Amino acid sequence: MVVTDTLILPDTDAGVARASELLRAGHLVALPTETVYGLAGDARNDRAVAAIYEAKGRPSFNPLIVHLPTVQAAHHYVVWNDMAEALANAFWPGPLTMVLPLKEGHGLSPLVTAGLDTVAIRLPAHTLARKLLTVSECPLAAPSANPSGKISPTTAEHVMAGLDGRIAAVLDGGACPVGVESTIIGVYDNVPRLLRPGGLSVEDAERILNQPLREAGKGITAPGQLTSHYAPGARVRLNATSREDGEMLLGFGPMECDLNLSETGDVIEAATNLFPALHTLDALAPQGIAVAPIPYHGLGLAINDRLSRAAAPRD
Ligand code: TXA
Ligand code: MG
Repeated sequence: MVVTDTLILPDTDAGVARASELLRAGHLVALPTETVYGLAGDARNDRAVAAIYEAKGRPSFNPLIVHLPTVQAAHHYVVWNDMAEALANAFWPGPLTMVLPLKEGHGLSPLVTAGLDTVAIRLPAHTLARKLLTVSECPLAAPSANPSGKISPTTAEHVMAGLDGRIAAVLDGGACPVGVESTIIGVYDNVPRLLRPGGLSVEDAERILNQPLREAGKGITAPGQLTSHYAPGARVRLNATSREDGEMLLGFGPMECDLNLSETGDVIEAATNLFPALHTLDALAPQGIAVAPIPYHGLGLAINDRLSRAAAPRD
């Protein structure tokens, strides 16, 4: 691993131009998206993609999402279908990733897909991410910009805390508005499957598809859905209504607590606040983090998914 000084680039045309040069030269740049910060590299460049796995300490069997500026660009890499068309029309650009069959002659590094014959693609909505995709003309492979298994980053400071010295630069776009990763839907054999709940609610996706999303099913889940993930240093205890010894309480809805995800009980606001709250509590290093029950509707599904992994036993 080459250790470099990690540049913090501003949200200006010059910042985007510098980030673009670095990406075109095969270096890694963290960039803001509406969901979380991504650690981007040119998805066609084997060395850049290998460097992403190395910088994160990510298992290489866990494939990456390719970020693209337009639907036309997507047609270059995947075999399109009617479900993809309906979802793209309704939700792109935005917090939706679709897994589709790879097209012949796609030109992506085989490391991106970890050898699968499908690829995950997404059009992010964040202005800076879109500018960088357009200016660099690179399809960008980008997992969340955190060391593998740790809490996802929603600010440039979170990225620096985890990856300073391991990547060329971070483009600072402030805090990410959605706050949890994209919803991943597999749309590859006439059946829409929920591979990961995220920033687009399942209810909204099902309304557009006019059918329920199926469970991922054995062996075809997103390989990155490892049990322990998003883990702060402290032990995490779920569905808590009060503190036990040495714990800090992360609340939801009107209640007495150390930090509240949403005092009004709004799951969208809670999603935005989830990772920043875990970063904040982690820095205070309590003996444990107790988390109030979160409802399962809307983005509550994604919040409960992340929390259950943060609470899972660790190796
Ligand atoms: O919001 C997001 O999706 C963020 C931002 C940066 O775009 N990215 C993100 O990437 O969350 P990452 O690498 O942390 O998660 C990607 C997930 C993993 O669970 C991976 O297994 C799954 O996508 N995935 C990628 N390619 C796949 C494929 N061909 N089939 C099934 N799952 C796939
Ligand atoms: Mg991640």
